[in-house]
Amino acid sequence: MSFEITTKDLDVFYGEKQALKKVNLCVNEHQITALMGPSGCGKSTLLRSLNRMNDNIAGVRVEGQVLLGGRDVYAPEVDAVEIRQRVGMVFQQPNPLPKSIFENIAFGPKVLGMKNKTALEEIAEKSLRAAALWDEVKDELKKSALALSGGQQQRLCIARALAIQPEVILMDEPCSALDPFSTLKIEELMQVLKKRYTIVIVTHNMQQAARVSDWTGFFLMGKLIEYDETAEVFSRPKDKRTENYITGRFG
Ligand SMILES: Nc1ncnc2c1ncn2[C@@H]1O[C@H](COP(=O)(O)OP(=O)(O)OP(=O)(O)O)[C@@H](O)[C@H]1O
Ligand SMILES: [Mg+2]
Repeated sequence: MSFEITTKDLDVFYGEKQALKKVNLCVNEHQITALMGPSGCGKSTLLRSLNRMNDNIAGVRVEGQVLLGGRDVYAPEVDAVEIRQRVGMVFQQPNPLPKSIFENIAFGPKVLGMKNKTALEEIAEKSLRAAALWDEVKDELKKSALALSGGQQQRLCIARALAIQPEVILMDEPCSALDPFSTLKIEELMQVLKKRYTIVIVTHNMQQAARVSDWTGFFLMGKLIEYDETAEVFSRPKDKRTENYITGRFG
């Protein structure tokens, strides 16, 4: 098994405030890595630092390294746009563009220079199929994406992420705004997607982490306290703080 992403002594600061402290995380290729921990412990900060989404936040400072396929994504010659193409992101609230279903998918490829209509249609179908949404929307691709249900919108956002052919997909609490049925659909989808992509998911739902992930990391106040195979973390946590968290005795 090889590592897709490795962080080395990763520190992230917002001005004076340090949000991540010497984080060393190895994300395995074609596996699902779940990150959990109490609110404010730095999970979203970590996700955003993996694809340089933090670049857009004023006053942010990153120290240490994030290696993607062995290359430091913060090296001066590296283009953040390329990194964000290779490492896609899905957010907590489904955030489709106020455009048609088709245009939501075509947007990324168009920005990357694809103009051919047939090629864009092919990519739209392929991405929507991969996101398990095609059958529900194939006859209404011109309809506004905002008219879809929350669960459908989230699968559309996953399709949009897939359309630019990433290697890694980061998901920040992708199911927290969804009902249990839509959540199940996304979880099933993740199992299919991991055959082709590497997935990192932040979740507050411990059952979800236990169900879907291969590896689990537990964060507390900016530190990665424990990181191991999911079954190990949930059955034999090595750190008392992890145990307290997963047994609900936290805080
Ligand atoms: N844009 C920002 N500017 C300043 N401080 C920030 C910013 N984003 C996050 N922080 C701070 O960094 C710390 C980590 O925040 P982060 O959003 O990464 O936590 P989280 O684990 O994702 O929490 P939650 O579970 O609530 O989403 C918090 O103390 C937060 O206040
Ligand atoms: Mg967060």
